[in-house]
Amino acid sequence: ARLQRILSLDDLEGAARRFLPRPLFGYVSGAAETGSSLRGNRAAFDEWSFVPRVLNDVSKRSTATTLLGTRYSAPFGIAPMGISALIAYRGDLVLAEAARDMNVPMIVSGSSLTRMEEIAAVYPGAWFQAYVPGEPARIEALVARVAAAGFKTLVVTVDVSVSANRETNIRTGFSTPLRPSLRLACDGLMRPHWTFGTFLRTLAHGIPHFENTQATRGAPIIARNVMRDFGARDHLSWTHLGQIRRLWSGRLVVKGILDARDAALAAEHGADGIIVSNHGGRQLDGAVAPLRAVEAVARHAGGMAVMLDGGIRRGSDVLKALALGAQFVFVGRPLLYAAAIGGTPGVRHALDLLQQETLRNLGLTGLTALEDVSRDMLVSTKAPQ
Ligand code: FNR
Repeated sequence: ARLQRILSLDDLEGAARRFLPRPLFGYVSGAAETGSSLRGNRAAFDEWSFVPRVLNDVSKRSTATTLLGTRYSAPFGIAPMGISALIAYRGDLVLAEAARDMNVPMIVSGSSLTRMEEIAAVYPGAWFQAYVPGEPARIEALVARVAAAGFKTLVVTVDVSVSANRETNIRTGFSTPLRPSLRLACDGLMRPHWTFGTFLRTLAHGIPHFENTQATRGAPIIARNVMRDFGARDHLSWTHLGQIRRLWSGRLVVKGILDARDAALAAEHGADGIIVSNHGGRQLDGAVAPLRAVEAVARHAGGMAVMLDGGIRRGSDVLKALALGAQFVFVGRPLLYAAAIGGTPGVRHALDLLQQETLRNLGLTGLTALEDVSRDMLVSTKAPQ
């Protein structure tokens, strides 16, 4: 019944605000510093308008597409999101199940609270996202574990050289390690659906751990040394990506590219794909919106698959990203909200809404297949500077 009132992905944010304790909603919805990149990610879509063609027979339309050798039902997937299993009961598994059912990719976060092996068992087509550990020996162990778990695509997130400044987290009382507090307890009591339906059920299985930061098992979310478990990352360089390329025989995707020169470097180091992303505005505040960067990046991507995330909320957003040079997009926050309030059916509902919008708007632009989406269907409607 709650899902019937969700008519678009934007409706999920309000529903999640009422459902989740303030610190957790703040963690998911929040961004770095002023939120300028977060707003820019959305605003960028309004800078483009469609010039639709008419009287083309669009009775037979499809949103199916091939990405890195795999056929998917739609040109979008689920972006990696940490601690999903604290936001939604069995959060990572819920996202994986919905993605599997809809035949779209789901990227398992390196800071997830569910063992990667368990998620791969639910959806063998899932991808794994790693935060590269600082030391070569740990990189080797992690890559070996990801391969043994059966993942075929490894995503390396590279826009996290230093940890971001997210003031929302401090204001709302969210921290890593998670510190139990009176405020958290009061907030929890006011959100009984989350407290009983998610939190206590999760605790019944034990204290959640960051399960995928090490070769074996990471630290519990309340451990004081939890950040140490992720390791220092500010010395990482392209050499480390090269090391991963030599160790990993599956498909390699670099997430967090915004500059065309970095796209060229990723190609040089053997990446099969890149995700143009500013981490949903959660890392460098003021970083350019992926939609504004994707055209230039795509020109230097060589044969790599170009993907994009940040601010995708509508089928029309998907089509604009594709017209500007992306081959595929990923969606973050709305799908985690959907998992929180509606479990697997909730995420399926959200993915279905996006697919229906994409299919409808494809027809309204006068096209029947995603391969026909092209740059000339857009005009810039940017306000004059
Ligand atoms: C993220 N993101 C992210 N990215 C990543 O590579 N590894 C991660 O563990 C996380 N964790 C994470 C948690 C939460 C709560 C959010 C909202 C985001 C970034 C994510 O993959 C993606 O880049 C953005 O969320 C896309 O923007 P939208 O769709 O949320 O606007």
